[in-house]
Amino acid sequence: MDYVEQRMTQEAQKQGAAEVDTVFLTPLNIILTVIVFYVLYMLFWPSKPVSYPQDPPAVVFRTYTPRTLLPFNGNGGYPVYLAVRGVVFDVSSGRQFYGPGGPYENFAGRDASRGLASHSFDEAMLTKNLDGPLDPLEDMTPDMLEALQGWEERFNSKYQVVGRLISVADFEKERKEKQDQA
Ligand code: HEM
Repeated sequence: MDYVEQRMTQEAQKQGAAEVDTVFLTPLNIILTVIVFYVLYMLFWPSKPVSYPQDPPAVVFRTYTPRTLLPFNGNGGYPVYLAVRGVVFDVSSGRQFYGPGGPYENFAGRDASRGLASHSFDEAMLTKNLDGPLDPLEDMTPDMLEALQGWEERFNSKYQVVGRLISVADFEKERKEKQDQA
């Protein structure tokens, strides 16, 4: 008798376990469990910091004199600038032309107006006295001025204007005027 009772109890337990299996292991429960784990994972797993594309550095429009423009020749980590008729262009993207070792490196950090108008990158085309007046270009022929205008158009469409070039005397004059106004 004892044996029969024992067997019956065992069978009842087995049945109960099977019912529990079928109640909990339904496809719906499995899907829900996966979803719960996924949500918990998304909530608590440390995510990588979001990196946004950086804006290009803001262009600061500055007033240069021939002397303060000089370091902008691509050496020592400086960008490459050149000036044409008082307008300073950032020609760094044309570094292969104007950067160190480039065919037109003489123009880098300088007033390139005379050289461009004369179609010469000779040293003699550059203003010697960096503290004197800017090259007035008074001796330029109409053809030369037309050529220069062509270069200006090219630069305006290709490069960014980053400042203006004025003589040291004009720079000092403007500074004094600003001081007087303040
Ligand atoms: C030996 C004769 C020369 C040859 C074979 C030559 C060749 C070239 C070439 C292939 C380019 C590139 C054009 C481009 O890809 O947009 C260029 C650009 C240029 N060349 Fe010459 N060139 C000569 C003389 C000169 C001279 C004498 C000057 C003096 C003003 C000069 C000033 C320039 C300038 C300013 C650029 C434009 C670079 C830019 O787009 O920023 N070239 N030249």
